[in-house]
Amino acid sequence: MKGDFDGIIDMTGTGSVKWELTQKVFGEESLTPMWVADMDFRGPQAVIDALKRRAELGVYGYTFRPAHLNEAVAGWMERRHGWRVDQEWICFSPGVVTALNACVQVYTEPGDRVIIQPPVYPPFFKSVQDHGREPVMNPLKLVDGKYEMDFEDLAAKAETSRAKMLLLCNPHNPVGRVWTRGELEKLAAICERFGLIVVADEIHADLALNPHRHTPLLVAAPQLAGRTIVCMAPSKTFNMAGLAMSFVLIPDPEQRKAFQTFMEKAHLTAINPFSLTAADAAYRHGDEWLDRVLAYIKGNAEYLRDFLTRRIPRLSMVMPEGTYMAWIDCRPLGLAPDELKAFMVSKAKVALNEGKGFGEEGAGFMRMNLAAPRSVLEEALAKIEAAVNAL
Ligand SMILES: Cc1ncc(COP(=O)(O)O)c(C=O)c1O
Repeated sequence: MKGDFDGIIDMTGTGSVKWELTQKVFGEESLTPMWVADMDFRGPQAVIDALKRRAELGVYGYTFRPAHLNEAVAGWMERRHGWRVDQEWICFSPGVVTALNACVQVYTEPGDRVIIQPPVYPPFFKSVQDHGREPVMNPLKLVDGKYEMDFEDLAAKAETSRAKMLLLCNPHNPVGRVWTRGELEKLAAICERFGLIVVADEIHADLALNPHRHTPLLVAAPQLAGRTIVCMAPSKTFNMAGLAMSFVLIPDPEQRKAFQTFMEKAHLTAINPFSLTAADAAYRHGDEWLDRVLAYIKGNAEYLRDFLTRRIPRLSMVMPEGTYMAWIDCRPLGLAPDELKAFMVSKAKVALNEGKGFGEEGAGFMRMNLAAPRSVLEEALAKIEAAVNAL
C-alpha cells in the first residue's frame, strides 16, 4: 500500500520554483528536480483544513500577529525542544534570509567582519557581503566522514579578525550536522570570550532525524541570551516556505528594539492572513505529521546510502543527522566543479545543487533534496547510476 508521502503532486501552473523553473535555471528539459529546499509532500491535514476555513471567509485584509500565534510558537518550542521562550522575545520576519540580512545591518557596521562556517547555505555569504561587511571563514572539517567545527581556528580567527558577529547554522545546511550540546557549549565559550554577537539560524531545528535531537543554542548556552538572535520558522518543517513567515527570537530588549525598528522602517512587518492561520495550526496540531515525514525522509536517506554503496560505490554520502538534504561526495569521479555540474544536468538529467555554491569547501560535492517520494529518488538514482557507468 502506498504511504501518504508516495504520491506525485502535479505542480503545473502553480509557480513552484522547483517544478516550474528547473528548465530555465538548469538549461535542460526533463530533469528530475531535487534542488530547491522545499518538500514534494502535502502538509498536515490540520493546516489544509484551517486554510480552507480561512479562505472561505473571503476577506483577507490587513492582519496583525495575535497573541495566540505567539502562544503556539512558544508551546512548540517547549514541547519539541525543551526551550522555554518568553513570548515577548518573538519578532516576525517574512523569511529567515530577510532576518539574516536585517541582523547584519542592525548589529554590525560597514567594514565589520562576520564569521561563517562553510560549506554553508549561500545566503550566509551574501547577507554579509551585500552590505559591505567582510566574511571570515571558519571552515568545517570533514573527519572520518563526519563534519566537525574547528574550534581552534574559530578562536584564532575571532581574535585576529576582531569579528563582531558569528552566523551559526544549527542544524547545518548542507552537511546535515545536528550540533550537540557539547559542541554548542564550546562554541559559546569562544563567542563569550571574544564578545561575538551570534545569529543562530535554527530553521532546520524541527528536522532532526531520529535518534538525533536538536539543541537550541540558548538551551546549551543560556548565558549567551544577551548577545544572541535566533531565527526559526514553520516553513521548512511543514512545507510552507511560500507563505513567507518566520520568527526571530531576541531575548535582549535593546537588541529586540533595534531589530524591530529596522523592520518597521523597511515596512517588513505586515503578515498575511494565510501564513498566520497555517503557522498557528501547524504548531498546535502538526506533531504527528512531522514525526511521520521525518521517518519517511530518514528512510530515503538510508535508501540513498545503501544504493550508493551497492550500485555507485564511487559516490558516497555524509549521512544527515538532520535536514532533508543529502551531501553527496562526488570527488572520486575526478571532475572539476563545472564538469560535475554539467555531468549531473546533461548526462544524469537530475537537478541538484552544486557543492561549490556553498563555498570552496563544497567543490566536488552535490546536494540532493530528499523530501521527495521514494519513486522520484529511485528514478534519479537510476539515471545517475547509468551516467556514472557511461563515464
Ligand atoms: C539555513 C537556512 N536558512 C534559511 C533558509 C531560507 O529561509 P527563508 O525561506 O525563510 O528565507 C534556508 C532554506 O533552505 C536554509 O537552509
